[in-house]
Amino acid sequence: MKLSEDQLNDYKKNGFLFIENVFSEKEISTLLTEMERVIEEDSPRKILEKNGQVRSFFAPELSSPLFENVVRLDRLVSPSRQLIGSSIYKHQTKLNTKHAIVGDWWDWHQDYTYWKKEDGMPSSDVLTAMIYLNDVNEFNGPLFVIPGSHTIGTVDATFRDKPEDNDEWFEEYQTSTTYMSALTADLKYTIPENLLADWITKKGLISMKGKAGSVLFFHGNLFHASTNNLSPWNRHTFLITYNSTNNSLPDTPNPRPEFISSRDFSAIECTEKDFILP
Ligand code: SIN
Ligand code: MN
Repeated sequence: MKLSEDQLNDYKKNGFLFIENVFSEKEISTLLTEMERVIEEDSPRKILEKNGQVRSFFAPELSSPLFENVVRLDRLVSPSRQLIGSSIYKHQTKLNTKHAIVGDWWDWHQDYTYWKKEDGMPSSDVLTAMIYLNDVNEFNGPLFVIPGSHTIGTVDATFRDKPEDNDEWFEEYQTSTTYMSALTADLKYTIPENLLADWITKKGLISMKGKAGSVLFFHGNLFHASTNNLSPWNRHTFLITYNSTNNSLPDTPNPRPEFISSRDFSAIECTEKDFILP
């Protein structure tokens, strides 16, 4: 799939690009069935909500040739190469399973903050392709984005619930390398409230609703968040983060696990044929 000049300009201006019908109904139903199988697995790659439901499952392709094929599909890789402007490799993948009624929120953040602070990624030449496995409506926790917010660069992030009377705990939390603190609903690096208010007033807010089979490509510095799922409809997504091969990670003393932060920097080769069904 080749993006047009207009699509490239939209992405440059807004920090995201939304494309419908990238996956067929049949493909989505196959992926959902495979997702249900994979998330049953007992694994450190599985992150739970406070209520015990699955929140995320990292690197599903390690358990599934089908997801491995998705990561290498031309219809995702070619647009991502164009948007980043170089060859790319897979930095991270995860299933975000936002279950009906109980799926929890994602506070406002920029993805690149995590990759910079936790993995030492040199620049923000990185994006995520979010594949919609269900229809996303106003009730089941759509992603909120602030168009153009990626142009600010990377902001000084804060921990929203900083305990007033516990500086010692906070200090330890901020400097900790425990990878779990980046993955739960208590996000470690969030965007300061006054900055958010300014940007939303200036640029508005978009709720990224859309049909199953759509893909949202978004920049590593885009401000984004999502609310709880209070509806009876699941909002499951598969997210693939592609990074420029010119932006690979330096050696660090305590790297995060490979399933969160890949250190295989080889450029992705697309699958021969652009299909995922047997
Ligand atoms: C993310 O920010 O990584 C995902 C947010 C969401 O699934 O709504
Ligand atoms: Mn994110």
